[in-house]
Amino acid sequence: PLVSMKEMLEDAKESGYAVGQFNMNNLEYAQAILQAAEEENSPVILGVSEGAARYMGGFGVAVAIVESLMIEYGTTVPVAIHLDHGSSFEKCAEAIHAGFTSVMIDGSHYPLEENIALTKKVVELAHIHGVSVEAELGRIGGQEDDLIVDDAEAAYAIPAECKQLIEETNVDCFAPALGSVHGPYKGEPNLGFDRMEEVFNITNVPLVLHGGTGIPTKDIQRAISLGTAKVNVNTENQISQTKAVREALNAKPDLYDPRKYLGPGTEAIKQTVIGKMREFGSSNRA
Ligand code: G3H
Ligand code: ZN
Repeated sequence: PLVSMKEMLEDAKESGYAVGQFNMNNLEYAQAILQAAEEENSPVILGVSEGAARYMGGFGVAVAIVESLMIEYGTTVPVAIHLDHGSSFEKCAEAIHAGFTSVMIDGSHYPLEENIALTKKVVELAHIHGVSVEAELGRIGGQEDDLIVDDAEAAYAIPAECKQLIEETNVDCFAPALGSVHGPYKGEPNLGFDRMEEVFNITNVPLVLHGGTGIPTKDIQRAISLGTAKVNVNTENQISQTKAVREALNAKPDLYDPRKYLGPGTEAIKQTVIGKMREFGSSNRA
């Protein structure tokens, strides 16, 4: 069933695992991610960025794809459809009214007071609809769709500010930027575990780790032990899909049936997602 993230993340936090947010770029992603979740008996979050929603034809199209696949597949595991890096109150409202069960309001580029006011407004609307909300403080580096943060701008969240934002807004989960990056890392990631621990200890809210692509397993496990209950992955699925599509096209230069080259790409996404679910410990937690 399509549900909010609230209960799945509370359980993950209590039981010491993380639920994966896998970004959905089109139909094939939804197929691969839902199939992986059912096979692994794992809760799952389908992340949809504003850019991806635009690409698919709108928020309503993304919801319709996920809902109709869940009916066809007879999905039994909990599934959330979540707006990734929502840029404004209006976009969050649009997603909520289109049937999203969760939204992120990313006010991380605003001064603290503005971020709090904006997040609060989104929470008020979302909670009326039973929709969960994720907020962010600090700045995650790298690029995802329209969101570009260069090295100089990337910043670590300040624990006292995190506490203030969480207390004043009543968000369901929280993404403190602590050195993770969207897209591939330049060298090894340098995550601020001390601050992660501090933020979790003073807030006790499920934490979210963005930029899941390229983070070593030991760092993922450490993050989970310090309160991370959600890990976002996008680029790694894109890379594995594209590699499989490229191989299929290279192997048969006269191929033209999209099912014959997109199919292997979809299978590659599914296998990557299964690997992440096992790594995050969400398998058999549905
Ligand atoms: O919001 C989505 C993610 O943080 C994805 O990051 O593309 O580096 O895996 P990634
Ligand atoms: Zn992100």
